[in-house]
Amino acid sequence: AANRTFSIIKPDATRRNLTGAITAMLEEAGLRVVASKRIRMSREQAEGFYAVHKDRPFFADLVAFMISGPVVVQVLEGENAVKRNRDIMGATNPENADEGTIRKRFAESIEANSVHGSDSDENAAAEIAYFFKPEEIVG
Ligand code: CMP
Repeated sequence: AANRTFSIIKPDATRRNLTGAITAMLEEAGLRVVASKRIRMSREQAEGFYAVHKDRPFFADLVAFMISGPVVVQVLEGENAVKRNRDIMGATNPENADEGTIRKRFAESIEANSVHGSDSDENAAAEIAYFFKPEEIVG
């Protein structure tokens, strides 16, 4: 059934003016952008969003990176949206990403990996609610 996932176009990608190119790849993969906004995340927002990683060695660098420039947060809708988005994103580490994926094409490193996507329906719902009010999502 059609459902939703949450995506972030990260600072390395907005810096290189790749918002449109990445969004086109999401759309070509069968996803529809039903909400989108360009924001500068606050430190508190980034720390809260990535709280699950707070004890990981890369946490401080990850937060610093995510607040280093604008990001575009999006809600994507489509059949099996979570998996569809993860497939088109490719592996977290671009060295392991398949040909034709966003990260293979654009990511600079495991940290500057151009996009984030939810990893489950439960996390998608929580991540969408973290950044969007229901009335900001227009299906
Ligand atoms: P993301 O899907 O946004 O979720 C957590 C992010 O941490 C991940 O993408 C990576 O960009 C970043 N990260 C940085 N270093 C690592 C690492 N060693 N392992 C996993 N994720 C990492």
